[in-house]
Amino acid sequence: MSILLVMSLQEIESELSQLKASALGKLAEITAETKDALETLKQFDHKYLSRSGLIRQCAQKISNVEAHEKPQLGQLINQLKDSVTESFNRKVEELKKAVGPKATTVLFDATIPGEQKSCGRYHPLYRTFFQIIDVFKWLGFDCAYGPEIESPYYNFEALNVPADHPSCDAFDTFYVADSHRNLLLRSHTSPVQIRTMEQVKPPIRIIVPGKVFRPDTPAPSRFPMFHQVEGLMVDTDITFANLKGVLDIFCKEIFGPATRTRFRPSFFPFTEPSAEVDISCVFCGGKGVTGSGENCPVCRGEGWIEILGCGMVHPNVFRHVKYDPEKYTGFAFGMGVERVAMLKHGINDIRLFTENHLSFLSQF
Ligand code: DAH
Repeated sequence: MSILLVMSLQEIESELSQLKASALGKLAEITAETKDALETLKQFDHKYLSRSGLIRQCAQKISNVEAHEKPQLGQLINQLKDSVTESFNRKVEELKKAVGPKATTVLFDATIPGEQKSCGRYHPLYRTFFQIIDVFKWLGFDCAYGPEIESPYYNFEALNVPADHPSCDAFDTFYVADSHRNLLLRSHTSPVQIRTMEQVKPPIRIIVPGKVFRPDTPAPSRFPMFHQVEGLMVDTDITFANLKGVLDIFCKEIFGPATRTRFRPSFFPFTEPSAEVDISCVFCGGKGVTGSGENCPVCRGEGWIEILGCGMVHPNVFRHVKYDPEKYTGFAFGMGVERVAMLKHGINDIRLFTENHLSFLSQF
């Protein structure tokens, strides 16, 4: 049988004020002249303020009052705790002054567990960003940045993308306003190639880390906002061999020294010739099968995974920025940062990067 003891709030209030009066009275009695003043203060702390002390015990009374009175009682107990703690701290300071450094030694309780501060860390996506940037910095590339709201000129035209290209369509690009299509959210970081070349003469060796936007419905492999790293190298005599060398080193640095690369012919309006780069599958080591003989779920038995697009800068792109295509050559590339992070860490859903689940984030 359980007995429900209901007490009136007034009764408890008067108990609390008695407790307060007795605590403050005891504190007032302790002075520098008190015999073993510091020890007495320590005992006071234990009796009233500790975890098992009288003030903490008052919290049990909350279950004895009517539901609507509980918040008020909680507040009263907190006020009691604050006021006694404040007087106690003042007394500690007073005694420290009177007794000197010895006070700290006596009042310091080495058995109390220290405060655990959990340490923040970078988002997994940004860690990947920094790793990518570090590799290219080591190879002599500088970082360049550009606006996330662009004009069609920089996003398409200057990059040799014809106005009737499907990527200019509103299904593939976010236009800032339906009524006039002269501002858009950049759909790739390639516009920064143009902005950089407009401002400086070759030699150029830059990467462009940044956000890009495309009207996709969120799904495991698609998200309307994601990140890219663009690359551009322009000088006299830059060849496809330079492009292959740089990207091969990059892939080995990011995915491990055993990684092999493969360049497949492809098409991008801003490069000619263009290629897509595949790396040997990071999960099955390029074998296409798992240890148990099944098709590798990541490369689907292919042994290769597509990682980025690249090519030799198209002469029309050079013409837009008034570089002489007879004098200069260059290569460019672009990769999705989420994709790199997902492959590196075996993440199977791009949406996890923006959902802010601590259980996901704290694994990195
Ligand atoms: N801009 C391309 C995209 O978003 C990626 C890309 C491919 C960038 C080839 C390049 C390049 O600079 O040469 O899909």
